[in-house]
Amino acid sequence: MQFNIINIPEIESTNIYAKQLIDSGDASEGDVVSTQYQKQGRGQGDNFWESEPGSNLLVSIIFQPKMIQASQQFVLTQLVSIAIVDLIKEYVINEEIKVKWPNDIWINGKKVAGILFQNFVKGSEIEFSIAGIGINVNQKRYYSEAPNPISIIHFTDKSISLNVLLNKLLDNIGTNYWNYKLNQNCQRLKSEYIHNLFRYNEWATYSDGKNFFQGKIIEVDGFGRLTVKLKNGNDKKFGFKEIEFIK
Ligand code: BTN
Repeated sequence: MQFNIINIPEIESTNIYAKQLIDSGDASEGDVVSTQYQKQGRGQGDNFWESEPGSNLLVSIIFQPKMIQASQQFVLTQLVSIAIVDLIKEYVINEEIKVKWPNDIWINGKKVAGILFQNFVKGSEIEFSIAGIGINVNQKRYYSEAPNPISIIHFTDKSISLNVLLNKLLDNIGTNYWNYKLNQNCQRLKSEYIHNLFRYNEWATYSDGKNFFQGKIIEVDGFGRLTVKLKNGNDKKFGFKEIEFIK
């Protein structure tokens, strides 16, 4: 996969800019919008993504994943999440690095990276997809109400070059994407994702917004829904925001 980095030092949000490129017909697969500072960095839901100027990785990657059926769209989340986990493992050794479903990356239970996906589906195909990636790298303190932010620098003794990090990230994503494109087999990605998933195959407490219950994550389907085994032996699927991790 060929990447084309478009760096804009200050911007509202790289995801918004990427969407504008798509809307104006100027987007190509592999375009990467990168910035040092976002005035309106967006997180999941209505959340704001905090990042002080020049400290962290803030990028949006445009894919044209025509080979991925809309019903398999979670494969993109899986390949990007794994690429970030592999990247962080290069810098942070001997700590627990996990994907918190669906696509937060955690070190020892604290959030080091988040991904904001926007998929544009036409019929059964994904015409465009934007993967907005924020990785906390060199920022030492956080001021917003984001729960549990942490940076790579908390585990290294020196600050990290954002350019080097971006190139490694794109390498990892490019390799995963290319491999998927070549054999269209999401089994390997699925299995890597699930084996890096926080609380996979462990009993834990969850809430569905009404009740607390005990469950065990056993699978994630093509749409990204979580399958949880319940104590009564039944399996139940949950979409994003339909289940909350308690403890
Ligand atoms: C989350 O809440 O976990 C998702 C955070 C995604 C943040 C990144 S930073 C680059 C890109 N541009 C944005 O406005 N958001 C994403």
